[in-house]
Amino acid sequence: MKSILFVCLGNICRSPLAEGIFAHKLQQADLQTAFRIDSAGTSGWHEGELPDRRMMQTAKQYGLLLTHRSRPLLRSDFHDFDLLLAMDASVLREMQRRAPAGTAHKLQLMRAYDALSSGADVEDPYYQDQYGFEICYQVLDECCERLLEAFRP
Ligand code: 4NP
Repeated sequence: MKSILFVCLGNICRSPLAEGIFAHKLQQADLQTAFRIDSAGTSGWHEGELPDRRMMQTAKQYGLLLTHRSRPLLRSDFHDFDLLLAMDASVLREMQRRAPAGTAHKLQLMRAYDALSSGADVEDPYYQDQYGFEICYQVLDECCERLLEAFRP
């Protein structure tokens, strides 16, 4: 079983959406048992909260119900997951700073799996309008598709 943790700053916009999209793709492919997935934030600012209502709304338009509750990234996550995917370069830097010895190889940028633009950031939509949330969905849908292709058993 492959375990993947999606990580952003607040764990209320990008990473819970990535988790929701990937979970949906697993369900469609009947691969739920082949993966264990979760999401977390480098900050604990929104701990316990559901995703931002604008993110919930965008997800709903694509048939996704997001139920994740925000939680902070833990030291144990670096050991418990095979792959930790950062939504942008600043999140990746923070994760690299905190990574216990021997776990740095598990960290990657989410957009490393974006065939259209590898290596770039999944932009933070938090201070943007609804269009920013739509872009976020499109980018993450592409990344999740490639991610599943890369690790499909
Ligand atoms: P996320 O977006 O990292 O995609 O969950 C943000 C959510 C909240 C804040 C920043 C980014 N904030 O400043 O509270």
